[in-house]
Amino acid sequence: MSADPSSLLAALDADRYCVMGNPVAHSRSPWIHARFAELSGDAIHYGAQLVALDGFAAGARAFAAAGGRGCNVTVPFKFEAASLASRLSDRARIAGAANTLRFENGEIHGDNTDGAGLVNDIERNAGVQIAGRDVLLIGAGGAAAGVLGPLLNAAPARLVVVNRTPGKARALADSHQPLARVADTLLQSLPIDSLTHAFDIVVNATASSLSGGAVPVSAAVLRPGTLALDMMYGPSAATFLHWARQHGAVPRDGLGMLVEQAAEAFFHWRGIRPPAAQVLAELRAVVDGVRP
Ligand code: ATR
Repeated sequence: MSADPSSLLAALDADRYCVMGNPVAHSRSPWIHARFAELSGDAIHYGAQLVALDGFAAGARAFAAAGGRGCNVTVPFKFEAASLASRLSDRARIAGAANTLRFENGEIHGDNTDGAGLVNDIERNAGVQIAGRDVLLIGAGGAAAGVLGPLLNAAPARLVVVNRTPGKARALADSHQPLARVADTLLQSLPIDSLTHAFDIVVNATASSLSGGAVPVSAAVLRPGTLALDMMYGPSAATFLHWARQHGAVPRDGLGMLVEQAAEAFFHWRGIRPPAAQVLAELRAVVDGVRP
């Protein structure tokens, strides 16, 4: 069956976006944004662009010069994307990293939707409110830095940051103390081997499972019902999710965060809130092969 010529013309005319990264072939973003556009009745074209490790700024500028309207930015370019932006949202500035760029009138607007994606996934999709809760954030690299501000904005009673290299956890907590005061949250960095009590929500933002490492905290941080979320999904999250399940916690991978951060980016570009929960259910079915 041949394609409808009018829809082909619409696709050629559509505003262009992409995800830039290295590697990028594994990215689910093109699929997610295509579904957002389809379900929102908003024609965009969204591709994946592999960028040389020393070529991010040139690649982003070239995409903008060729008429691109914006891009998502993934590993390892999120810090460079924040430096490239001529304007930064507060949340990107606080994170020191941008995962979403918008090209408009010669300016590059940088935003960071990762933290909002995590908070929305926890609150809307997992149904767990963060306000007043005791939260543990494991890790102090780029992924943790991207979500700490939005986690604090959700006003937990206490947020503890731990990291294999303790100085990085201290620095991350120190830089977020002003936000914690506004949220009336007790923000602490503690030694990673000192944790002896259970939290309501545990977020793994480390790359430990990528290297086949064990979960770097004691299982004492879990109790039955603790939401234990790994920001990764697929095989990379398996060790953490297995550990969480074994100790009676409610395991959750990072697929919901992925879709929710994309929904925030789509809103940033298009001013439309796409049906994230529906797209998450569809993506879950694709990734798991069965489960909606
Ligand atoms: P990302 O952008 O994914 O956060 P990153 O900035 O390199 O990547 O940070 C990786 C995080 O995973 C860090 O918190 C790192 O701990 P260190 O700061 O001590 O390096 C953590 N990490 C990586 N491998 C780990 C392991 N095997 N055990 C514990 N933590 C690990």
